[in-house]
Amino acid sequence: MSAPIIAIDGPTASGKGTVAGRIAEHLGWHYLDSGAIYRLLALAALRRGIALEDEAELAELASTLDARFVGESILLDGEDVSLELRREETGNAASRLAVLPAVREALLARQQAFRQVPGLVADGRDMGSVVFPDAALKIFLTASAEARAERRYKQLIEKGLPANITSLLQDIQARDARDSARAVAPLKPCEDAVVLDSTALSIEEVIRQILVLASSCGLIASV
Ligand code: DC
Repeated sequence: MSAPIIAIDGPTASGKGTVAGRIAEHLGWHYLDSGAIYRLLALAALRRGIALEDEAELAELASTLDARFVGESILLDGEDVSLELRREETGNAASRLAVLPAVREALLARQQAFRQVPGLVADGRDMGSVVFPDAALKIFLTASAEARAERRYKQLIEKGLPANITSLLQDIQARDARDSARAVAPLKPCEDAVVLDSTALSIEEVIRQILVLASSCGLIASV
């Protein structure tokens, strides 16, 4: 039997990273931040001067990328790049290369390798549809673009990174459009996903609702 999966997909800044990380911690399961893998590839490409449209070069880089997840830190070629990964430029670059089918294919096995006992909470855009289609529980977590821009603004300011609310909202809308319109693994809830709108919910309420769903489908004993 392979390890059980809770897949949490949704648009940028929907809170899925925080929610997925906290649920994994609560359950003692592993955690996959798949967006970080796309961001790592984007950062590596920017550093090496590879164009974000160069599908063959990017796919090659994706299969040789020296990326490691060590506790809270994310290492690229041995260097801790956690903070750089969170920058809006990195996220936008990730969204651009994520439209390329060969790049997605080259990153697939790297993501699936995170599936280990006792279980995995995975967050991204296509966890439930492509990477782990047999996930026991699939959540599509969303929120209004305005609520997400505000949350992202607070996160960036807290980390001491530059932020502007108007341009964040524009970026979020542009990123949603690109992530939803791409031909391969577009951002949309899969048929068997539970859609949760977190616009008016706190992180704690979202976590609780997901744990209740996990317990009602027999994934965990009780909340
Ligand atoms: O979740 P995030 O903002 O860290 O993701 C950055 C970009 O990576 C996002 O705009 C689209 C892409 N991505 C993807 O295409 N598939 C995933 N499973 C995760 C991220």
